[in-house]
Amino acid sequence: MQEAPVDPRTARPVSIEASVACANFAHLGLDLEALRAAGVDYLHIDIMDGRFVPNFCLDFSLMETIAKLTDTPMDCHLMIEDPERYIPRAVQAGAEFVTIHVEATKHAQRALQQIRDAGAKAGIALNPATPTGSLDYILDDVDMVTVMTVNPGAVGQPLVPATLRKISDVRHLLDDSGHRSVEIQVDGNVSFANIPIMVKAGASMLVGGTSSIFHKNYSIPEAVRAVKTLVSELERVS
Ligand code: DX5
Ligand code: ZN
Repeated sequence: MQEAPVDPRTARPVSIEASVACANFAHLGLDLEALRAAGVDYLHIDIMDGRFVPNFCLDFSLMETIAKLTDTPMDCHLMIEDPERYIPRAVQAGAEFVTIHVEATKHAQRALQQIRDAGAKAGIALNPATPTGSLDYILDDVDMVTVMTVNPGAVGQPLVPATLRKISDVRHLLDDSGHRSVEIQVDGNVSFANIPIMVKAGASMLVGGTSSIFHKNYSIPEAVRAVKTLVSELERVS
């Protein structure tokens, strides 16, 4: 079957991120070293408050521990209500990117500004049902848009198909408004099968959990190698 050509407007380097919530905590240090050695670009740290999402997950003190164990940069995904309360803590714990949800605050612009003022890159995440129009007036304030490709709060969920169209809608919105440097992160069911579709739609930061980097049938080095092979083929086609 003929591969669809990559839109040159969307061609860009692609970063690979490991969703730490999916690591084996019985030997976290070994997993972190395997991820570093395999050349993973970022560690994705999910923080949940049991309110914005019906679950709890990692926390800031674990981020500080991780920062002592590895030099792989961290990307902190805050799935919490009123995230501005914890932005300083996330940056202090070592996050290069801090991402808040547009649905979780009444003051998204101010919170994004707060992230940058604290010295980190600012990410805004959209749940599957949230329209791209919520980005219209905050594009100058973001370094990354996270398109949630599952509803946040749990690992191992199936893709919400309509979110694939949202990736390309966001890419066009960014490129057409002079925000080409803004990254699009995809989070949720970033599987070996979905990666080519997501990258062709315009995703440039891939959060891999149980669907790829921590797939039960592969070791971390095998899984990262498979993702890297997919990504380099996509970059080459472009
Ligand atoms: C969303 C989380 C998960 C995580 C797990 O709250 O951030 O989506 O990436 O990845 P998968 O879907 O591969 O288990
Ligand atoms: Zn996440």
